[in-house]
Amino acid sequence: MTISSATALAHPNIAFIKYWGNRDDSLRLPQNGSISMNLAELSTRTMLTFDPSLPRDIFDLNGTRQSGESLHRVTNHLNIIRGLRGVSVHAHIMSENNFPADAGIASSASAFAALTLAAVSALGIEMSEKDLSRLARRGSGSACRSIPGGYVEWYRGNTDVDSFAVSFAEPGHWDLADCIAIVDIGQKKVGSSLGHTLAKSSPLQEARVLDADRRIDICKQAIRNRDFTALAEVIELDSNLLHAIMMTSHPPLYYWMPATLEIMYAVQSWRKTGTPVAFTVDAGPNVHVICESDSSKQVRQRLSKMPMVKDVIVTHPGGKARLV
Ligand code: DP6
Repeated sequence: MTISSATALAHPNIAFIKYWGNRDDSLRLPQNGSISMNLAELSTRTMLTFDPSLPRDIFDLNGTRQSGESLHRVTNHLNIIRGLRGVSVHAHIMSENNFPADAGIASSASAFAALTLAAVSALGIEMSEKDLSRLARRGSGSACRSIPGGYVEWYRGNTDVDSFAVSFAEPGHWDLADCIAIVDIGQKKVGSSLGHTLAKSSPLQEARVLDADRRIDICKQAIRNRDFTALAEVIELDSNLLHAIMMTSHPPLYYWMPATLEIMYAVQSWRKTGTPVAFTVDAGPNVHVICESDSSKQVRQRLSKMPMVKDVIVTHPGGKARLV
């Protein structure tokens, strides 16, 4: 094989209905479906070169050579893709996030979406969006939602074949904003992959999973109808259910910090006094404050005034993963 390369760009996404817990950890088949919105202003850009002269994969992230778990995860994912073509050639991967590594924003979704698209095209494999999404899922579950654009649903599916994500509304369908209130810039205490394996140890997980399709329907309807009141209620419920599982798993995971709760209280009081806002929190302490774009300036100002908020990043609905 000769040298071949490709460069891809993908956006991270914020989940409105969350993925937490797998039926199959190695295939990343989730226990429940999920809903998310891609974030336009944030992206991972990955240039990948397959080069027969390389003795092993080389992975540079934001200019820093990676080793250990970070490299291992990328190599494992590339092995799946190399397997599709029956090749064993190694690659040099150069990946850049346009958001700071220490901003507490999960990058595995955009990272594995961009890596998958770059690797598949560098190998000259023709693949549908559905199959790209299935493949990205193997690297990081949430990455399957960063392949299509705009507002996306990840079907739980029953097997590797039918668990993938599709777009159900274009980015321009509803001009929402995600104002990310950064309260802590440290690395995650417990990564999502380990968290997923602990989910089943919570006595509440079964109830959360059983009710997931209902929440997905409400969330999709709210987005389709641009009904902020309905969206706010269901995303806050879903975020609280996620954290209830985390806090009641064995061992328990506490991602909230005092500042997280303070912002959640503030968001609820702003909503009571007429500003349409809602919170959602992932596997970390930062709060994603969702609003319609016309109130994002006011929301950003209010968040920035809170002493424990270190930064506010305002983002809007983003497009699909693409070659650049
Ligand atoms: C809380 O997709 O990061 O953000 O599949 O192990 O890479 P892995 O996990 P990951 O989990 C995301 C968890 C979440 C909720 C969500 O994005 O749906």
